[in-house]
Amino acid sequence: MKKINFIHVGLGNYSIQRLEILKKNKNFNLVGLVDTDKNKIFNLSKENRKIFFSSISKANAKVKADAAFIYVSANKHAKLVCESLVNNLHTLCVKPISLNFQDFKKIIKIKSKKRNLLLIQGQNNQWNDASLQMKKIINNKNFYGNFKLGYCVTWGRQILTNKNARKDSESDGSFFHSMACHQLGQLVAILGLPLSVYSKSSIGGDRYIGYKNIPRTASGSVIFDYGKARYFTYIGNRSAHGNPQGFAGRWSGDWLFNGTKCDLKRSGGRITVYSNGAVIKDSYLQDIDDYQILDDERQYDNFYKSIITKNRSLEKSTLETWLLMEACNISSRKNKKINISDLKKNIGFKL
Ligand SMILES: NC(=O)c1ccc[n+]([C@@H]2O[C@H](COP(=O)([O-])OP(=O)(O)OC[C@H]3O[C@@H](n4cnc5c(N)ncnc54)[C@H](O)[C@@H]3O)[C@@H](O)[C@H]2O)c1
Repeated sequence: MKKINFIHVGLGNYSIQRLEILKKNKNFNLVGLVDTDKNKIFNLSKENRKIFFSSISKANAKVKADAAFIYVSANKHAKLVCESLVNNLHTLCVKPISLNFQDFKKIIKIKSKKRNLLLIQGQNNQWNDASLQMKKIINNKNFYGNFKLGYCVTWGRQILTNKNARKDSESDGSFFHSMACHQLGQLVAILGLPLSVYSKSSIGGDRYIGYKNIPRTASGSVIFDYGKARYFTYIGNRSAHGNPQGFAGRWSGDWLFNGTKCDLKRSGGRITVYSNGAVIKDSYLQDIDDYQILDDERQYDNFYKSIITKNRSLEKSTLETWLLMEACNISSRKNKKINISDLKKNIGFKL
């Protein structure tokens, strides 16, 4: 099978961890490293210094690449995604691929002219065993029936005082773009997009851990309408006074789904299924790990398979996730229900 030659963009802490995962994956072959900070070259081996560049375009002019992985600060994502697509590279950019609607529109405009390329918003909460099992059960019509009602709660204390995170405390909408996306990605993978979204967000959060009085940075409450009187409710808070669900549960979420045949409850790695007043299944599975290594290993495998087989379902689900993240922001800002198909039309979003 063909190896995918890739350029890795960003040489920060998290990014280097992702690079290590990619280097172990036999389907990918590193051909370029990109960082705007020229001093990063001094951390590289002799061999890697030869493939170090200051931009995707400069790298692509010198090496033969098929794909780019983008892991830099979120405010640079949209521009780099556009540059990567213009350079004819399949692109995986860590969430959020854009911080606003205007930049997302620019990405979609370029993407619509590059239909052979795959564009993925990197998300790492849906490849662990617990997430996969939740999806499998809810999509098993014989066992679960049809979706009727559900909720997800995520509750935690995320410190925003360090240098990287500080931007998150200042940009309106960062709650949905950098926290809710972990749960909304799972929701879209399971139920697809709702018909409409109605969202609210309280102002600010715990100042002691870096929150300012900026809307949509700390929490959000949303009702998703799936039609035919089917609703899903989401409540997320990252500025709580503690982490009652622990690390994994905080990112993965606490979930309850009511189906026509049974109910599914997920708390981190534990999945319990109830039917006719009794527990019919109770399992403890691998949840997201501290450094999201397992999830990303599997995500990269899926990216590879999607490129090779030209399967677009991963692209569709991750871009729809971005749309849902932003629909929550728009609804909260405008204080009104947002119709998802109108939003798609407005962007020219056809996948
Ligand atoms: N769970 C998650 O999904 C998760 C967790 C942590 C971080 N992240 C994401 O990963 C990103 C990277 O994290 P990190 O710890 O590696 O960040 P970092 O701030 O340590 O490093 C970012 C690097 O990108 C470089 N850079 C900045 N602009 C650039 C550009 N235009 N082109 C090329 N390089 C550029 C910087 O010089 C720096 O070396 C974060 O901003 C965040 O979006 C996601």
